[in-house]
Amino acid sequence: MRPFRVCDAEDAFEWFSDPEVMRYIPFGSDSTIDETIARISRYIDHQDSHGFSKWAIVDNETQRLIGDSGFYSLPEGKGVELGYRLSRPYWHRGFATEVGRKWIEVANEFLDDSTLFAFAHPDNSASFRVMLKLGFRFSRDEVFYGLHAPLFELPLKTSNSEQGGASNGG
Ligand SMILES: CC(C)(COP(=O)(O)OP(=O)(O)OC[C@H]1O[C@@H](n2cnc3c(N)ncnc32)[C@H](O)[C@@H]1OP(=O)(O)O)[C@@H](O)C(=O)NCCC(=O)NCCS
Repeated sequence: MRPFRVCDAEDAFEWFSDPEVMRYIPFGSDSTIDETIARISRYIDHQDSHGFSKWAIVDNETQRLIGDSGFYSLPEGKGVELGYRLSRPYWHRGFATEVGRKWIEVANEFLDDSTLFAFAHPDNSASFRVMLKLGFRFSRDEVFYGLHAPLFELPLKTSNSEQGGASNGG
């Protein structure tokens, strides 16, 4: 995984514009490359302001961009969520679980929060399966971006702020 660059928009449009990939995502798929440029710009701004964001997933063998995954601030300061999306040809190969595990290692080392969150549309069974495999457990129902969604949580090892560790890490 690596941070997004604006020039990734053309490659990333492949999955951000795919209605099947974006089926359960609030606000749905991107219709134009400009929407993907705006989306990636938001992720870059979030990285600059928070020190973490959604990053691009790169296939090690081909160097192709195959999806996005990472941390994002939940609305109203309700914590940090982990998310993952893959281009359709890359589904069912364990990649979401693989990148999720790596992000949890990063969260345990760098995030100041004591809990990491994840949520998905109630019908998004694949996403819930990944959450459970990563060790997330149901917390409560919430509404995010107009979506009524079960919120899952994962306790992080320790709060890095208690250790005087890095802030804005990740
Ligand atoms: C969710 C998503 C990232 C999963 O990616 P993936 O790399 O295929 O996930 P993994 O292979 O690591 O694991 C998927 C698990 O879900 C299971 N699964 C896949 N589709 C499923 C479905 N429709 N119903 C139930 N389980 C399903 C798989 O069997 C696997 O579990 P298993 O290892 O116990 O067999 C991918 O489907 C995707 O990009 N979806 C669209 C974007 C999205 O909705 N992202 C989540 C937003 S919250």
